[in-house]
Amino acid sequence: MRVYADNAATTKMSEKAKGVMIDYLDKYYGNASSLHSTGQEAAEKLQEARKSIADAIGADPIEIYFTSGGSEADNQAIVSAAIIGKRKGKMHIISTAFEHHAVLHTLNKLEKEGYEITLLDVHENGMVTAQQVADAIREDTCLVTIMYANNEIGTVQPIAEIGEVCRKAGVIFHTDAVQAMGHLPVNVKKDKVDMLSASAHKFKGPKGVGFLYAKRGIILSNIIEGGAQERGKRAGTENIPAIAAMAAALNESIENMETANEKIVKMRDMLVDGLSKVPHSKVNGDMSSHLPGTVNMCFEGIEGESLLLLLDANGICASSGSACTSGSLDPSHVLLALGIPHEVAHGSLRLSISDENTEEEMEHIIKTVPKVVDYLRNMSPVWEALEKGEREHII
Ligand SMILES: Cc1ncc(COP(=O)(O)O)c(C=O)c1O
Repeated sequence: MRVYADNAATTKMSEKAKGVMIDYLDKYYGNASSLHSTGQEAAEKLQEARKSIADAIGADPIEIYFTSGGSEADNQAIVSAAIIGKRKGKMHIISTAFEHHAVLHTLNKLEKEGYEITLLDVHENGMVTAQQVADAIREDTCLVTIMYANNEIGTVQPIAEIGEVCRKAGVIFHTDAVQAMGHLPVNVKKDKVDMLSASAHKFKGPKGVGFLYAKRGIILSNIIEGGAQERGKRAGTENIPAIAAMAAALNESIENMETANEKIVKMRDMLVDGLSKVPHSKVNGDMSSHLPGTVNMCFEGIEGESLLLLLDANGICASSGSACTSGSLDPSHVLLALGIPHEVAHGSLRLSISDENTEEEMEHIIKTVPKVVDYLRNMSPVWEALEKGEREHII
């Protein structure tokens, strides 16, 4: 049995999105900037996809800019707001310590350019509050950027409340909605956001395509210079088959959201109940404000990476913190931001499921994880010290 439980990393494309993409590769291969009919047919399809995505999130088509994915959208949103701020003499930006690196690294770069960055503390339960944002806003604040849902622990932030605070203060609010899009009902008006990033491969669309929503009136700055595509704000020939497949995937996810989430939450709760029985384990993040399919746990006395390799050998594809991507042995910055001690954060496991998973697969996970944790603990000098009482259990 092979269980794919890493949907927060990426999803398998839906049959529908794949069908649209293949069809478009065949029929609408024209360059949307060409004046002939093949180009213009492609341009029409591009605008259809733009409208369909705009409708899906309560936006206007001219507020949608296609990008290569979530990272690019995050970069462009943040840099654009920073430049707008600088022109008004406002160079203070508020974010949180547990954002994706696409946000944090962009903020690091801006800090070197003279911007002042305030990273809000994240509560132990994986949440930030609108009050924290209100308290941090200053006269010179030009941007608040806070993620909709966290990619590692799955907590969903009070976006509409934060949006309200920002609106009252006249500060641009950007949200990285990469993990939320297609899984939660996102609406830019209800959520009171000015800018929003999304990525198709997290909701059964293709990889390498995403979009940035920027409210009318926000002047974007280019990250990629060149041709006049995307109203001069993002150069490069548009990948229309991928963009159309993204629109199809988003609409399909929204249509199926209720039924899919009911099934996913039931399976997720099975995982939480089953795996919480492992002694000295802990579920990370407040499960009452949470993505349907993501579970993050820590198991004391083990290394997340070893756990992943052994789970893979047992047919389970999962993920740990961010150590693998950074190539370092540092534990996840997200778990550290929650105040989880280093030694516990090292033993983390993220399982992220979709409606394509089954209860039988959950049972396989619930049976396998405790065995693998036990096996690793038996080999661990840290666990031995904990068992002998030479070290104190933290969880
Ligand atoms: C919250 C969040 N933001 C941004 C990204 C980056 O998206 P992309 O892979 O499309 O560049 C990811 C991907 O893991 C993510 O989870």
